[in-house]
Amino acid sequence: MRTDLNIAVVGATGVVGRTLLNILEERPLPINHLRLLASGRSAGTITSALGQELVVQEATPDSFEGVDIAFISAGSDVSRRLAPAAVNSGALVIDKSSAYRMDPGVPLVIPEVNGRDVEDHRGVIATPNCSTIQLAIVLYPLHRANPIKRVVVDTYQSASGAGASAVSELNEQTRALAQGRPVPVQAMPHQLAYNLFPHIDDLLPGGYTGEEEKMMNETRKILHDEAIGVSATCVRVPVSVSHSEAVHLEFENPMEPQEALRLLDEMPGVTVTRDSYPMPLDVAGSDDVYVGRVRRDPSTRNGLALWIVADNLRKGAALNALQIAEEVVSRDCLRVPTLSASADL
Ligand SMILES: NC(=O)c1ccc[n+]([C@@H]2O[C@H](COP(=O)([O-])OP(=O)(O)OC[C@H]3O[C@@H](n4cnc5c(N)ncnc54)[C@H](OP(=O)(O)O)[C@@H]3O)[C@@H](O)[C@H]2O)c1
Repeated sequence: MRTDLNIAVVGATGVVGRTLLNILEERPLPINHLRLLASGRSAGTITSALGQELVVQEATPDSFEGVDIAFISAGSDVSRRLAPAAVNSGALVIDKSSAYRMDPGVPLVIPEVNGRDVEDHRGVIATPNCSTIQLAIVLYPLHRANPIKRVVVDTYQSASGAGASAVSELNEQTRALAQGRPVPVQAMPHQLAYNLFPHIDDLLPGGYTGEEEKMMNETRKILHDEAIGVSATCVRVPVSVSHSEAVHLEFENPMEPQEALRLLDEMPGVTVTRDSYPMPLDVAGSDDVYVGRVRRDPSTRNGLALWIVADNLRKGAALNALQIAEEVVSRDCLRVPTLSASADL
């Protein structure tokens, strides 16, 4: 097993990148050297990580010399531009963007669900959309016991899911409203303070949004089951951190709430709440995905309804990425196979 990893973090100044730097201090990934990368706007700024003051550098295709693992969380365009260069330099890329998630040659991994898939990597492993992660980790133990035929999920997604500028804007909008000033709207498509909107990512021709299609497609890929029907409505709500989901499931066979609770109790990374229900304010800063209000859905045969909340910056993004790195190290499959195998990225 490697004990001397050279790590690069692209997007180190963003909300996901900063969360990753915090989690790196909490978990025992053996790190020799840490390189912080961002856009030219942040080049030269100082950030503390792993007890050191590090200078942020501009990310370029030449930034990956000697790097073993490159975490990229800087948007899809940056991933498409830099991931091939990183792989060609010999780095394994763990990508937080949607650029490669549905590529058949790229594993899409939640370690507690399909950790074995990391062994199939050809230089890039994708970590799923934040809302997909907290849904799929809950579906997995239920689906294994009793096939799920249909999933209807409505999300309540926090501002931090849209990045650092959206969090600042929500705070500024709230202050402006309290002081009777004009409300700034730049980082998000509408005013979020005292409001919500069912519009995350682009509106697509079929009527769904990009975020909704990600949840629908990625869930099937992670669970290795193209037969599950998934319909999502994704909503941005005026919460800083943690996404919530109202989920309705239809199973092949009857599923009693008590049986679902038993299965979820045994699932690593999932915490079941029985006497109360999880809320974003309480869950922010936690690693687990929280499930509550598990009940029979009387509107359909073999139906179950439940409520899921998780910290979108931790399990929904940075923690899952770091767990993928841990999975790769423990399975001893860090090596990037061949340049030609990954050249089509
Ligand atoms: N937020 C979430 O909950 C979440 C969850 C899952 C996935 N993701 C994905 O994670 C990625 C980052 O999201 P975020 O929420 O952390 O966004 P963010 O707070 O807006 O941060 C964006 C980061 O990308 C960097 N960046 C921008 N343009 C760049 C360029 N041309 N070259 C190199 N770096 C560049 C920024 O650097 P500067 O500071 O220099 O501009 C910053 O570090 C996105 O792909 C997002 O879809 C986010």
